[in-house]
Amino acid sequence: MRLTEAAERFGTPLYVLDEVEVRSRCRAYREALPHAEVLYAAKAFLCSATADWIAEEGLGLDVCSVGELRLAAAAGFPPQRMLLHGNAKTPEELRLALRLRVGRIVIDGLAEIPRLAALAIADEPQRVLVRVLPGVAAGHHAAVRTGVAGQKFGFPIAGGDAAEAVSRILAQPSLNLAGLHCHLGSQITEVGPFLTAIDRIVALLAEIRERHGVQLPEIDLGGGHGVPYLAGEPELDLADFAARVRERLASACAEHGLTVPRLLVEPGRAIVAPAAVALYRVLVVKHGTDGQVFVAVDGGMSDNPRPALYGARYQVRLIGRDSNAEPCAVDVVGRHCEAGDVLVPGAHLPGDIRAGDLLAVPVAGAYQLSMASSYNLVGRPAVVAVRDSRARQLIRRETVEDFLSREVGR
Ligand code: LLP
Repeated sequence: MRLTEAAERFGTPLYVLDEVEVRSRCRAYREALPHAEVLYAAKAFLCSATADWIAEEGLGLDVCSVGELRLAAAAGFPPQRMLLHGNAKTPEELRLALRLRVGRIVIDGLAEIPRLAALAIADEPQRVLVRVLPGVAAGHHAAVRTGVAGQKFGFPIAGGDAAEAVSRILAQPSLNLAGLHCHLGSQITEVGPFLTAIDRIVALLAEIRERHGVQLPEIDLGGGHGVPYLAGEPELDLADFAARVRERLASACAEHGLTVPRLLVEPGRAIVAPAAVALYRVLVVKHGTDGQVFVAVDGGMSDNPRPALYGARYQVRLIGRDSNAEPCAVDVVGRHCEAGDVLVPGAHLPGDIRAGDLLAVPVAGAYQLSMASSYNLVGRPAVVAVRDSRARQLIRRETVEDFLSREVGR
């Protein structure tokens, strides 16, 4: 189905997700890392259909809330293949995770250790990882760099906090410590930071073996694999990542006389971002006094907060008609009540761009809908999947009736 037809049929703003692309990205991960466990990070985008595709392609699932956990479980995703994250897990989350018997829970605070240990049963210990900070900063924005001290996640390796957490977990009979986890940041395009993290984590594994006489069997390197949003931008080279990570794990372990642990990775963005396109209808074209042109569309920071939050850059294209008009520089803006609601500043669109035109923004699959809001009581967009030139709706558009239905008092 053509994008213009999808826009007609389902309305705009619309997110169109290519099922084949998501599946082939899952396969590329499994093929590049045949000995590793690949868990898709649901926070990038989750719905029942994507949970099915991820399950069918043999990946695990990283979830971080009751919402993600319950949606995936309701879709039939096997809890054993799930891993629960969170720096502030609620008692409800811990109880549900234990009840469903999720495969792994990642411990991210000292208080969580006795709390989880008290809920779990010693006869069937819960498998856990501990989130450590290797002191490596990487990623596209300060808000997503999570591998260093000075932010809320994890236990620093340097200074001994991580080792202390490990000791306390090992002392709990209802917890089975399987390994160490780190997540350096998001939209990382170089392999180097992952290799430095491996060195520091393997050194900690050696220290743990020394102190406790156990070798932990797993290392989870988190996600963060970068994709290009603009032409010519770099991306994390998956084959290079796979080869160098494997090599470094082997050499670092050999240096310390450790057996190579099982590797886990948690890509989110790299699985879904390039698989979706966002479609918007132009509502207004306004010419500012200093020659600025504002092309205002029917979505904005409510369906894609990334430009406003991180200064994220996107490409945008006119679709549905040919234009020979000279391209001109315009700001593609949203419909929300903030001057900062700019989706694509300095975009190049044909000079005859007008109300009614359709715009397409590619690489729209990650952290747009999952971070969408209903600011100004504008409903969140519908999501459709395309496969074999056919489109089917996965998530319907949020309506005013949805808002009204939450009004239970006055
Ligand atoms: N594992 C953990 C523990 C994470 O916190 C994340 C993302 C991932 C895996 C997946 O990372 P990915 O492969 O998708 O980079 N909203 C931001 C990105 C936030 C990432 C949060 N954690 C953005 O739109 O750029």
